[in-house]
Amino acid sequence: MIGVFDSGLGGLTVLRALVARFRDVDFVYLADHAHVPYGNQSSENIVGYTRHCVEELFSRGAKLVLLGCNTATAVALRRLQQEWLPESKWAGRHNVLGIVAPTVEAATQTPWAVTSPQYPQKYNTDTIAVFGTTRTIRAGVYPEEIHKRCPKVTVVQQICSELAGAIENKRPEAELDFLVREGIVAMIAGNDTMPPHRAILGCTHFPLVEHLFRKYLPPFTRILSQPEVVADSFEDYLTRRPNYLNGDERGTLTLLTTGNPSDVSEMARVFWPEVPAFAKA
Ligand code: DGL
Repeated sequence: MIGVFDSGLGGLTVLRALVARFRDVDFVYLADHAHVPYGNQSSENIVGYTRHCVEELFSRGAKLVLLGCNTATAVALRRLQQEWLPESKWAGRHNVLGIVAPTVEAATQTPWAVTSPQYPQKYNTDTIAVFGTTRTIRAGVYPEEIHKRCPKVTVVQQICSELAGAIENKRPEAELDFLVREGIVAMIAGNDTMPPHRAILGCTHFPLVEHLFRKYLPPFTRILSQPEVVADSFEDYLTRRPNYLNGDERGTLTLLTTGNPSDVSEMARVFWPEVPAFAKA
């Protein structure tokens, strides 16, 4: 059984890609609606909430948990992997992964394990735009990890502080359109660089409004699809580590929330029309 976690419903964009790819695997998804959105909260809160949810997923039988949330990955993953997990009762048989690593691998065409430029970088002077929540952008993990592998690439970052909450709360299309346009205009005005060759939608809610990013980004900007990139990388990981799966996987899907299950089930249809109902965690 694989656990997938997000502060809210954005991680469903990743879960959906995983379920389509691994039809026989059991998935349990946990959304922390009691505390969503994470994007503007303190690091301590984000680490604490994320740890609590990972423990919940481990207790329910998941041996591997994927943080399907850029904010939790950027702020909490390293601390959970290095400080909490090795000292916990789950040490040894359980693991937590995030979604920044596969995204950086795809953006740089370099494996995560390789932390220096792999080939001569003279001509690799692209500009990559990263859009995310306040905490993801302030954590600076995308520019840091991209520059280790591709030092001549320019990374421009843009905080879209209200967008995840607006998507989660089913705000009208005109409001979402305004927020996306505002972010792109600010990104282009604030950076004296080439318009981006590639764009990372670095928040799992944002694929829901990819059509709006497409509308306002220059036509030549390639948008990196994080759910697909994560599913590719996860497939590779599970092939190498089948021990994280139980022998009796049946392709079940369990959806849990720390919030109100009937409200959340209703909202979830925006992300995934035929999604099953949520239960209380
Ligand atoms: N979906 C989450 C992410 O990928 C963040 C949403 C939130 O602010 O909680 O960053």
